[in-house]
Amino acid sequence: MTDSVPVPRAPLRLGVLISGSGSNLQALIDRVADGFIPARIALVISNRADAFGLERARQAGIPTLVIDHKAHPDRPSFEQAMIDALNASQVELVCLAGFMRVLTPRFIRAFAGRLLNIHPALLPAFPGLHVQQRAIEAGARFSGATVHFVTEEVDAGPIIAQAVVPILDNDDASALAARILKHEHRLYPLAVKLYAEGRLRIEGQRVRVMDGDGIDPDVFLIAPVG
Ligand code: GAR
Repeated sequence: MTDSVPVPRAPLRLGVLISGSGSNLQALIDRVADGFIPARIALVISNRADAFGLERARQAGIPTLVIDHKAHPDRPSFEQAMIDALNASQVELVCLAGFMRVLTPRFIRAFAGRLLNIHPALLPAFPGLHVQQRAIEAGARFSGATVHFVTEEVDAGPIIAQAVVPILDNDDASALAARILKHEHRLYPLAVKLYAEGRLRIEGQRVRVMDGDGIDPDVFLIAPVG
């Protein structure tokens, strides 16, 4: 089956979902501000009131909302509140940026083909949690980051872009996480830019990157190792 990602009108309206520090949100804010991503961030939602990313958004003059999962009786009501807020802000693309709640199929269907996630491992290896520790324990020589479309299976949707990062002999999970995070900050803006320019086509599990007229063979999606 071939799905076409609709070509959005400019500027694309982004919604960003966070739970914590929001350094990936900051990377998106910075690359929208300097014109690399042809979009505007219409809304930032956090499920935690103490997420530092909220402060980053406020500093940038972006509307924020705390939707606390614990203040809702169940997951459907928590997710409906987020769907309503994103729709009220006319959000066209939703970016999960360190959002640490698993989303149900209902939410995912509401934004099918319009929902991206960044994951700190080279998917399909190491989905889920504690991925840096697991990559080290598995003896992998490389890990990295992946930006992908979100589908109903956790961390398994079509991959847009990946960055490869070496695992060094004396790495612990936090050293590796910090090295990966640096590359996430380049990778997520790149993937969002490609989406915003209407250059992504989902073909089954694969994502094709197009230039204006056809398939662009010269788009390198692997960040330099270092
Ligand atoms: C990032 O490393 C992101 O890839 C990861 O959380 C961190 C958030 O950092 N996301 C996940 O593990 C999702 N399963 P940030 O808040 O500084 O962007």
